[in-house]
Amino acid sequence: MKIIVLGASGRVGQEVVKALSPKHEVIRVGRSQGDLRADYTDKSSVLKMFEDVGDFDGLIVTVGGDSVFKHFRDLEDADFMLGFERKFLAQINLVKEGYKFIRDGGSFTLSSGFLSHYPNKNSAATGPFNAAVDAYVHGVAPHLERGVRLNVVSPAPVVEPERIGVGLISAEDSAQAYVESVTGSFTGQILKVWGGLEKNHE
Ligand SMILES: NC(=O)c1ccc[n+]([C@@H]2O[C@H](COP(=O)([O-])OP(=O)(O)OC[C@H]3O[C@@H](n4cnc5c(N)ncnc54)[C@H](OP(=O)(O)O)[C@@H]3O)[C@@H](O)[C@H]2O)c1
Repeated sequence: MKIIVLGASGRVGQEVVKALSPKHEVIRVGRSQGDLRADYTDKSSVLKMFEDVGDFDGLIVTVGGDSVFKHFRDLEDADFMLGFERKFLAQINLVKEGYKFIRDGGSFTLSSGFLSHYPNKNSAATGPFNAAVDAYVHGVAPHLERGVRLNVVSPAPVVEPERIGVGLISAEDSAQAYVESVTGSFTGQILKVWGGLEKNHE
């Protein structure tokens, strides 16, 4: 398959690339490095990326730095706008524009995060946008045509191997869920990689 990984040089993106590369044609995209460069917040840049790639089978979005962590009392409107524009709007625009280029039976895999369900005092400008992405996938996937699939991976915090535990995962564990999404046949799923906490929240 021809698979675009947007955010390929990131913590999770690198592991996704590593897992897919032996069997698939992987196109690594980032804002400042990769086979192609694109800024996912800029519609013209995104369109150029799709035009340069041409038709494709999978798009995986693992772009980071997409929300602000700050005590809820200190959050400004701009902090919420950043999360909205990056975590939510940029990701759903990738689906909208990419839908024109994706092959029949292709898949989109977005990123959210477990702070939607396991919030803390610093996650008020993060968790709600994770939830919004999950809801978008849940609502839109059934309406995509031509067999196109749409899923989202919701990772718990990614930590170094020695710190893995309940609610703390490795980048490799997270990457495995993106691989399952792009190589599987399911759609509309929120793949919760929550380090053993999954069962508490259906
Ligand atoms: N890491 C965690 O603990 C964790 C937990 C829950 C959820 N998540 C979610 O999982 C996803 C991946 O997280 P991560 O920690 O792997 O992220 P990360 O390491 O911070 O990702 C960095 C990647 O994003 C790219 N990037 C940044 N801004 C961009 C832009 N405007 N346009 C295009 N590419 C851009 C960078 O490209 P360049 O290097 O080329 O600039 C780089 O490839 C994110 O959605 C994150 O919210 C992460």
